[in-house]
Amino acid sequence: SKAAQYEWTVRYAKTNPDGVFRTVIGIVDQDGWHFPGPIINVTEGELVTILVQNGLPTESTSIHWHGQVQYKTPWMDGVQQITQYPIFPTQSFNYTFRASPSGTYWYHSHTGGQYTDGLYGAFIVRDVNDPYRDLPENVIFIQEWYHKTITDSFDIFTPHYPDGGVYHPEIDFVSGLFNGKGRYNCSLLTDFDNDTCTPNSPYERIIVNYNQTYRFRLISAGSQFTYTFSIDKHNLTIVATDGVYVEPYTVQKLVIAIGQRYDILVTMNQPPAAYWMRAVTSRTFNESNGILQYSNVPNSVEPDSTTFLTPFKTLNDSEPLVPTNQNSFTLQPPIFKKVATLNISCNEPIKSKCFVNGKQFMLADTPTLITMYERQPAPHNISNIIDFNENDTVLVIVNNFINISHPMHLHGHGFFVLGAGPSSLTDAINFNYQRDNVALNYNNPPYRDTVSLPQQSWLVIGFTANNPGSWLFHCHIPYDMEAGMSVIFNVNGTISPPPKDFPIVRPFSSRAPTFRMQNI
Ligand code: C2O
Repeated sequence: SKAAQYEWTVRYAKTNPDGVFRTVIGIVDQDGWHFPGPIINVTEGELVTILVQNGLPTESTSIHWHGQVQYKTPWMDGVQQITQYPIFPTQSFNYTFRASPSGTYWYHSHTGGQYTDGLYGAFIVRDVNDPYRDLPENVIFIQEWYHKTITDSFDIFTPHYPDGGVYHPEIDFVSGLFNGKGRYNCSLLTDFDNDTCTPNSPYERIIVNYNQTYRFRLISAGSQFTYTFSIDKHNLTIVATDGVYVEPYTVQKLVIAIGQRYDILVTMNQPPAAYWMRAVTSRTFNESNGILQYSNVPNSVEPDSTTFLTPFKTLNDSEPLVPTNQNSFTLQPPIFKKVATLNISCNEPIKSKCFVNGKQFMLADTPTLITMYERQPAPHNISNIIDFNENDTVLVIVNNFINISHPMHLHGHGFFVLGAGPSSLTDAINFNYQRDNVALNYNNPPYRDTVSLPQQSWLVIGFTANNPGSWLFHCHIPYDMEAGMSVIFNVNGTISPPPKDFPIVRPFSSRAPTFRMQNI
């Protein structure tokens, strides 16, 4: 079958995505430096090879292919200290795997919170029977943006690791980007001159033709907030969530959590003009924008459209669990035979340490997949490992004792979302879904790889542990993840051997899993 090959170098650039100059991490390929990274566009089952060279002088890196299951290629999941050693400066790593499943996915650094500084991109896997394959399409990434790098926060919390988490120095909303572009009001800067901030930074513009229907692949690369997304005057027809087709349903706005994807169809049936695309944060209601521009409308035109969006002011800043009814009849939930209960908490109010079942997750010195493969005793004490056997059917009950929601992501597998519900803090502590006779939805439930665990709530997901390996299940908020809100599911079974050139022995003697970013 076909093979797709990419050669990348990860590099800093000094640039101004929202007007303000700073150091950004991007990817260099044959066409130059990119932020967001280049779009990978492959067909399901195709062998993909991405040679990643680390050109950052002082930081290690790794690239994870979010939502790609890596069936029988656990070594390619790209998680530092779990499936590989980090890629050290000047070193490279060859990611080779078969693209699966099909749909809208993304890739990002899985070294600390590095993706927040720009190291991410779209990973599109084509299904040859895709019913929407003939439509023109665009990727739309949304994310928060800051004027300091995530590693600048190392100065604020010391020691940041392993004793406590890393909070961003600018924990409040600063600005937001659509496909790496946004606009910060330069006059808000005290030291503003044209070398620090370019006024009227251009918004992302997506140019469309009147009367045509487009498919937009909306991806949240956010780092703190859930977003409500809308396009003025245009309906959004959702046709897939996290790469899985759903019965099409039409909305005026949708809620997307960090790491999630929505494929939406939009018909350009409004008077030709420029329209705002809007992404509004949960809790703080900060808005960021892009522009949907009908062709023949000049680039200088900025929209004067108004929104029909009133931000969701729901108790839980989570995406609604319904109606994401899928229409793939091949995905019916099995009978789940094992139960894992995960209680999630943080030290309050600072949340610099978070815990799953009372334990703060830490990265092991040796990647846990290597430990498994070599049949050494696993570091359960530090890495919060839960063991499963190949083909176990597992219900995971997650209780959230915290007053914000958490986008939970599972590596190596998709999962059914069987139920979620609010509980008061004390209820959550005592919650027992069997005793409390909570009805779970086994009838065509949503199937995805990232789901919001609502604030002070319980959530039940189910999956079949069919992929031997060492897989992270974690909150996708980088600060929570660094603070320890993670657990590893070790799926025991025959681990396929790593490829010949795989660094199974630590390439350097340094124990530090990450390095400080250098400002250029
Ligand atoms: Cu999107 Cu563990 O990552």
